Amino acid sequence: MQRDGFKTRFGILAATLGSAVGLGNIWKFPYMTGENGGASFLLVYLLSTFLVGLPIMISELVLGRTAKANAITTYYQLPKKNKNFWSLIGIGGVAAAFLILAFYTDVAGWVYAYVYKTITANILSTSPEETSKTFGSLISTPLTSLFWQWLVLGVVGLIITMGASKGIERTTKKLMPLLFLFLVIIVVRSLTLPKAKEGLLFLFSPDFSKINAQVVLLAMGLAFFKLSIGMGTMTTYGSYFRDDANIPATATKVMLADLSVSLLAGLAIFPAVFTYGYEPQAGPSLLFITIPAIFASLPGGRIFMLLFFLLASFAATGAMLSLLEVPVAYFCESKKMSRTKATLLSIAILVVLGATATLSFNVLKDVKFFNLNFFDLYDFISSNILLPVGGLLIALFAGWTWGKEKIFTTLSNYNTLNNQKIISLYYFVLKYITPILVFIILLKGLKLF
Ligand code: PFF
Repeated sequence: MQRDGFKTRFGILAATLGSAVGLGNIWKFPYMTGENGGASFLLVYLLSTFLVGLPIMISELVLGRTAKANAITTYYQLPKKNKNFWSLIGIGGVAAAFLILAFYTDVAGWVYAYVYKTITANILSTSPEETSKTFGSLISTPLTSLFWQWLVLGVVGLIITMGASKGIERTTKKLMPLLFLFLVIIVVRSLTLPKAKEGLLFLFSPDFSKINAQVVLLAMGLAFFKLSIGMGTMTTYGSYFRDDANIPATATKVMLADLSVSLLAGLAIFPAVFTYGYEPQAGPSLLFITIPAIFASLPGGRIFMLLFFLLASFAATGAMLSLLEVPVAYFCESKKMSRTKATLLSIAILVVLGATATLSFNVLKDVKFFNLNFFDLYDFISSNILLPVGGLLIALFAGWTWGKEKIFTTLSNYNTLNNQKIISLYYFVLKYITPILVFIILLKGLKLF
């Protein structure tokens, strides 16, 4: 049977960008930048993206395309020795996919709920007490928040059962252009507000006193999370790439477009935050409490708010498709399940695991590990441990074990692309810079030395 894959160039770009662009850009990036000092955080994040993110992304895509297999099989098949050790990358990846989806589908549920609420009721209010009450009642009612999470799981599961080309590629080809369009409309509106300048200064003037080892780890974790790397997602998507796709070029485009979405989301949010006198450090609730309050002060605010949450839901959906594809591809290929069965099994696991994250805002709110509830724990373990460790292993495998010759032949599509110089630069960074940086930042950030 022929293996499914992405059919067109635009489809490859849309699917891969669909994985990278997500709640990371619209929810995590703005609040983490807000909490950790604005531009100085942005700078560390940019460095992590160029020196760590991009090289790992290129590696994953090419490894996946060469093996033409799911994440676990790829890291079992490609090494000549120590197969069981390297396949831990894929195993950790499947675990990370479930952990991330457990909290991600919760937040995506809030986003879906806000799309619905914006259409059916007037939830905009200039008083943050009011908007925080609306948000509070959503997350503190167990059945309501679970309902939205299940709806999200249903939608994403349905698309995944249709396969890589008919499900993922077809959906992301429609969602990505709309997302950019909506975002640009909102940014134009925001930049024409009276205090746009303060918002821009906050994003673009650095304060280096805010930077310490933990902040650097957070920025690097965000870079991993943003580019969907370190856990076999890009490996799995790489396995659906066409043989004539230019991987270094595609990865660079995706990285730049993803960065643009994050910056645009920052440009959409911070000018408005300053204009209406809110705190830029509002944390994870920035999106759900501050944004509705801001849009309430804006003429035509309800329409802008609808566009905003619609684009957030598109972003979240594209990213969740790639997360769910990691276990589904593995169950299908290695456990010989049908796609429907593999999806149903993954969804069943997520209904249980996801509930622990969702209920950590109500029934389970006093259950804490290292002072973190389930939701924060899953987020911390995946972004700051599993993805960087996975990324480190991928960099070591691609840079030191797989072989220079394989890298050069596969990334140049068997010498049909004229990109030797780019590959040399990538290979140098991947081999000497990426692993050392990840290693040091991990140890320092986790206070292991
Ligand atoms: N990159 C997505 C975001 O920024 O929202 C999240 C994500 C997707 C993380 C896929 C990891 C992953 F494998």
